[in-house]
Amino acid sequence: MSSEHVTTPRSGLRVCVVAGDDAAPEVVLPTVALLRELVPDIQFTQALSGREAQERYGEAFPAETRAAIDSADCTLFGASGGPSRPVLWYLRWGKQTYVNIRPVRWLPGYQSPMRQPERIDYVIVRDNLEGMYPPREGALSELGALTSSGSWWQAPPVQETGAYAVRVSTDTQARRVAEAACNLALQRLAAGYPGCVTLGAKYSILPQTDGRFREIVREMVREHPELSYQEFLIDDLGRRMIAAPETLDVVVLGNEHGDILADVASGSIGGLGLSPSACYGAEYAYFEPVHGSAPDIAGKNTINPTAMLLSGAMFLAHYGYREQATRLENAIAHVYSEGHTLPVDQGGSASTSDFIVAVRSSL
Ligand code: NAD
Ligand code: IPM
Ligand code: MN
Repeated sequence: MSSEHVTTPRSGLRVCVVAGDDAAPEVVLPTVALLRELVPDIQFTQALSGREAQERYGEAFPAETRAAIDSADCTLFGASGGPSRPVLWYLRWGKQTYVNIRPVRWLPGYQSPMRQPERIDYVIVRDNLEGMYPPREGALSELGALTSSGSWWQAPPVQETGAYAVRVSTDTQARRVAEAACNLALQRLAAGYPGCVTLGAKYSILPQTDGRFREIVREMVREHPELSYQEFLIDDLGRRMIAAPETLDVVVLGNEHGDILADVASGSIGGLGLSPSACYGAEYAYFEPVHGSAPDIAGKNTINPTAMLLSGAMFLAHYGYREQATRLENAIAHVYSEGHTLPVDQGGSASTSDFIVAVRSSL
């Protein structure tokens, strides 16, 4: 299942649910309950991970959970607070979900710290597999055989005690991330958005990795004359996200830049409680909020479920349940615009369950 949506509802859809660690189950389980109500035909199967799996099966990522992920069409994932990380790793690298789509859109009622937050409506398209992920690190002394850096400013100080990290970029991955960005920009253009792809990278300092990524994205956008293109060094792009978010439509980023700037972007609309995401591969997809497991508020019934609910709406839309996705999005938007039942992170006093009840009654 690629990043392109299907147009008619997929029948017999099987979905694995991995709730994850800390506060994540508090948003995943009610989201699944709502999704079941919206589309009773979808078959959801819950699989354990982390501490619960450790207790039941003796390992954090048991074969049963892997089999449940494999036999489903996609997975809904909460977040890993550490114990569930092997599952996250499997969902990304095991299932080759190469691109991560992170919409950034302010809605009336979101407690944004920005002036004129209605300017914020763009989507981050993030490389989900490469760059400095998965981590490959080692001792500096291992770099003795490296000759290519010598032609650049200075050879690595291999005689020193210290460490390095490797950043990897393949053309295949750059092309498919660029393609996903172009496809999304085309879809948005058809829906009235500018159809503009913005690349952010450190191509000045890293010509062979980020410079090459820039070339590949540029060329791909050039194949679509109806799209426009702009590129900025990543630090300047960070400033633009705050100073001029209205100039952004589809923003394509490398893995670690996308990770960091997605949280910044989330902060600009009102916080991590509001930011959904979807990860697509050629044969698999999984849906998770941008936020982590929020361990500091676990067990309090105060975590904002909006990010997970909106990830659920991305899931519905992806498999052709557009009407139900829109119903869910509209219900959420209605609760925020009314402003009577706002979650704690949005300046209200509604519990997670209160907010879910309000969304359900607005469906
Ligand atoms: P975090 O996103 O869990 O939390 C950051 C802050 O935002 C915390 O104060 C938290 O309470 C708040 N927050 C997050 N989501 C919220 C929500 N829905 N409603 C209200 N407040 C919310 O990030 P962190 O604290 O840096 O990381 C905690 C753990 O999560 C770490 O182990 C980290 O690696 C992991 N993590 C996992 C994922 C993932 O599984 N995809 C993503 C990010 C972080
Ligand atoms: C995210 C998270 C992950 C990442 C962590 C948990 C590995 O921060 O999904 O944004 O860095 O990609
Ligand atoms: Mn992150």
